[in-house]
Amino acid sequence: MSSQDFPTEETAVVTCGLPYANGDLHVGHLRGYTAADAFNRALERIGQETAYVSGSDMHGTPVAVNAWQEGVSPEEFSLEWHEQYAETFPKFDVDFDNYGHTHDETNTELTREIVRELEAEGFVEERTIEVAWDPEEDQALPDRYVEGTCPYCGEQARGDECDEGCGRHLEPGEIEDPVSTVTGNPAEYREREHKFFTVSKLADFLTEFLDDLDGTDNARNQPRQWIEEGLQDWCITRDMDWGIDYPGEHSSEDDLVLYVWVDAPIEYIASTKQYSERVGADVYDWEDAWNGSEQSDSENAGEIVHFIGRDIIQHHTIFWPAMLHVAGYDTPRAVCATGFITINGKGLSTSRNRAIWAQEYLDEGFHPDLLRYYLTTNGGLQQDIDFSWEKFADRVNGELVGTLGNFAYRGMLFAFRNYDGTPEATVSEEVEAEIEDAIDSVHAAVNEYDVRAIGTAPVELARFGNEYIQRNEPWSLVDDEPEAAAQVIYDCVQLSKACAVLAEPVMPGTAEELWTQLGEDGSVHDVELEAALEPPADEFEEPTELFEGVEDERVEELDAKLADRVASAADGEDESNVDESDDAADGDSAADTDATDEDAESADDVPADLDPVLEDRIGFEEFQDLDLRVGRIETAEGIEGADELVKLTVDIGVEVRQIVAGLKQLHDVDELPGTKVVVMANLEAAELFGVESDGMVLAAGEQADLLTTYEDAVPGERVR
Ligand code: MF3
Ligand code: ZN
Repeated sequence: MSSQDFPTEETAVVTCGLPYANGDLHVGHLRGYTAADAFNRALERIGQETAYVSGSDMHGTPVAVNAWQEGVSPEEFSLEWHEQYAETFPKFDVDFDNYGHTHDETNTELTREIVRELEAEGFVEERTIEVAWDPEEDQALPDRYVEGTCPYCGEQARGDECDEGCGRHLEPGEIEDPVSTVTGNPAEYREREHKFFTVSKLADFLTEFLDDLDGTDNARNQPRQWIEEGLQDWCITRDMDWGIDYPGEHSSEDDLVLYVWVDAPIEYIASTKQYSERVGADVYDWEDAWNGSEQSDSENAGEIVHFIGRDIIQHHTIFWPAMLHVAGYDTPRAVCATGFITINGKGLSTSRNRAIWAQEYLDEGFHPDLLRYYLTTNGGLQQDIDFSWEKFADRVNGELVGTLGNFAYRGMLFAFRNYDGTPEATVSEEVEAEIEDAIDSVHAAVNEYDVRAIGTAPVELARFGNEYIQRNEPWSLVDDEPEAAAQVIYDCVQLSKACAVLAEPVMPGTAEELWTQLGEDGSVHDVELEAALEPPADEFEEPTELFEGVEDERVEELDAKLADRVASAADGEDESNVDESDDAADGDSAADTDATDEDAESADDVPADLDPVLEDRIGFEEFQDLDLRVGRIETAEGIEGADELVKLTVDIGVEVRQIVAGLKQLHDVDELPGTKVVVMANLEAAELFGVESDGMVLAAGEQADLLTTYEDAVPGERVR
């Protein structure tokens, strides 16, 4: 986008969506927190001044409803969860510079200040609106106290969000057929006075903001659409006790608190401020990050990077920048919205106990780096990723044990045995160039917010290392060509050192272990990427293996445990009515990327008209006979006399093909060029309507929904 490349002269701040303090952390949460942590560490490794902050989201109905079900005060309830989170994150090496919470002094004060500023700038209006009301309890039913039908898409929704359908934020009074979650009664409506932030006046500002916004595509595209459809003003108060009191005058007869989504993101600033106060503004100045443009000449000097779950894009790209702008703060440079997590192909569901819990993972005795690696590299940020113990084991055993661990161990063991450490030599040109490339790739990945590429960089380098050692066979050189052998082994030690530096963002514990084994001084957490090229230490001890593999039996055992848990959660649900209470605990997704329960169902209910899977299995060899390639459509035009057919030219890397496909009614022909597709390249050529078709473009179903690639596969790559 328009931003300057990292590292910049400015002060960065990286944040991750605040978890609601209302239940156990699981892999859905961890995906976001580890991705942002890795990103922040990578920023540090390339020399950017930065801080990583977050905090617990204590207010709102997500906390109040659950506390009420447990029969404790929301304050006590949320503080207990907050403490638990604050203890859990460090166990995964999620290294916040500050982890606060929204109910503390700093956030409360700052929130009041910002809301007063919105008022002073003339962006707050009071309006009389109808809010949902429980007639029996005679209480207002804000947000999660009410459920009903989404007016936009017709799905079941919560009072303030269409969590199972279109994902929109819903304003009070918008939900149709409201039912009280307190009593189960149909809700009534009552007139109340509430405060509105007039976001609709900011459409032009927001459009410009989105044009400059970095991060994932989804964080720009969805909000653009919302702006086009017309922005609504945003109700920022609620009839509730739990929350931050509205700081200004109002005419409601009862107390008003701020809507949780007002004070929650402000914690990003408050938490940064607490960090500054702790370390001193000379070490890190929160105002440089959040208000840098006031202090420097540049228009938007702060480098604010938000990592969030994709269900809260609207809050971070509409409401939040609008607040920041009016209150005189800098607006975010980037919003990175992550996809969801499924477990064994089904939606993560806390109420069904189909989840991998943070504590459970640790109790199983696995090193946090294994999960960090899996979660950050199993797919691109925007992509939904699946977790299964089997896939986890495969990647640990293959990439970590087999490639990275194996390379570091064999090279260092050879060095230790023959030279008591690093032999005398200097790095070869080939290896130096390889390490430089790896460093460049991390720089590029940071600037593309490509956390996966940051994570795979050390493994790729180790893969090169294994190939290098194999090709040069130092073991057969030691006796006759000692200098050549020393050269190869020196290179291996250098590569191991580079792996340690490159591994730091995603696997900080392992990186430090390797660094220490290499006899390096200080900590790998304090060096910049260029340290990968500095000469390795002369001496080191006998190395030990960096990773422990995961055995097949372990996978079976873990799978069985998970299956049992899901089964007993299902039994429990039949007997008692836990459903209601559990669902309230579900889907709270700062970075908690559960897919909704609806996703969980869809795998089970197969529509009746789908073909059954073919009985006959084919062997892998036969599958290999299909030459499937990534292609890019170059040109597309209709074929006269054939309604549905389109004549395409498709670049499949090795050549450009003419292919005829039945897509015309379903895709806009003009929009096809540039689209990446999957091509069956070794299909016999055929003639359709007199036009030669040399291959086939794959598409799904009646809709001829074109298959494309998720990220940056290039034309010609094989699809397997
Ligand atoms: N607690 C919210 C959720 O889980 C996220 C709050 S993020 C912040 O969806 F921006 F408000 F901080
Ligand atoms: Zn909806």
